[in-house]
Amino acid sequence: DRPVRPLKSIAPFPVGTACMTGQLSDQVWFRLVSEHFSQLTPEWEMKMEYILQGDGSLKFDAPDRIAYFARDLGLRLFGHALIWYAQDHPWFRALTGDRARFAAEYDHYIAEVAGRWRSQVVGWDVVNEPVSEDGRGLRDCVWSQGLGGVDAYILRAFEQAKLAAPDAVLFLNDYNLENNPVKGATYLRLVERLLKAGAPITGLGTQSHLDIDIPAGQTAAFMRELAQFGLPIHVAELDASLRDDGRLPDLRPRRQRIERQTARVAELAEAFMALPRAQQFAFTVWGVRDTDHWLRRGNKDDGQDSPLLFDAAGRANPMFHAVADAFGG
Ligand code: G3I
Repeated sequence: DRPVRPLKSIAPFPVGTACMTGQLSDQVWFRLVSEHFSQLTPEWEMKMEYILQGDGSLKFDAPDRIAYFARDLGLRLFGHALIWYAQDHPWFRALTGDRARFAAEYDHYIAEVAGRWRSQVVGWDVVNEPVSEDGRGLRDCVWSQGLGGVDAYILRAFEQAKLAAPDAVLFLNDYNLENNPVKGATYLRLVERLLKAGAPITGLGTQSHLDIDIPAGQTAAFMRELAQFGLPIHVAELDASLRDDGRLPDLRPRRQRIERQTARVAELAEAFMALPRAQQFAFTVWGVRDTDHWLRRGNKDDGQDSPLLFDAAGRANPMFHAVADAFGG
């Protein structure tokens, strides 16, 4: 087998992974994180779904544990995510008819959460996934309903996050931007409009949940367009499912799907490597081992998919070598 050199020593920028408190005591997970990664993103425990309780109170036990863990290991901590259409919380849903109260609670939530780790968190996904699924428009959600429009909730979130965490890089984050050029273009137009409106967006996140069947070149093309803003870029949630566009059982030989996967991942990593250093915020994968992956947890798992850098036993997958080679290792 090929040598497995620590990614964080090969890459000239931070290499991150998603984490949750349930993984912190797993010895294999701990060894892989210590060896390869220099940044952590809480996979779900720093989101509203965990923090905001039904009575409006805030619970920080789990995200605090992740913050302490990162500090103790000398890992950068990335905040994910303050405002997301998918976290349509009943507490806020109940307030959409009273704009003043909604705005006050919105500001309070962001101030409390983004303010809590203000001296530690290097960046925040301030607004996650504002573009519609088909990529043609922007999502209507509890936040746009409560604050009177999409631009209104996004601008307010960034302004409040800047007040709460002035040293953090503030990201707009979305997915399928490489997979779906229409969505990528809508995201870029949204960024341009928000920046013109004065939104303190200081980082651009592309989640990079890659579709291995997209044409060669599409990923690199999007990265070049994204780089035009001159802002730090976060490959925020890389994974590359081997699934035959979601069909089970897979129709093509595994070897062929792995070849497609490593080609697309290499293209992304090479495109990120080609950015100026000031724009290479971090390169984050959405989990350590295939069995840590959100699509492999629970009863949906047939044990076949291999979307991440390491297999269930912590051995390097072909995707690891694609990334390491692109990083020049
Ligand atoms: O583990 C707990 C369990 O103890 C508890 O009883 C149960 C009660 O709901 O929750 C379980 O936690 C689940 C957690 O995943 C860990 O498996 C949460 O319910 C579930 O909501 C959470 O899902 C996360 C999802 O975002 C929603 O937050 C996934 O882990 C996470 O991978 C996924 O990540 C998103 C990014 O934030 C944004 N981009 C897309 C990406 C994939 O959907």
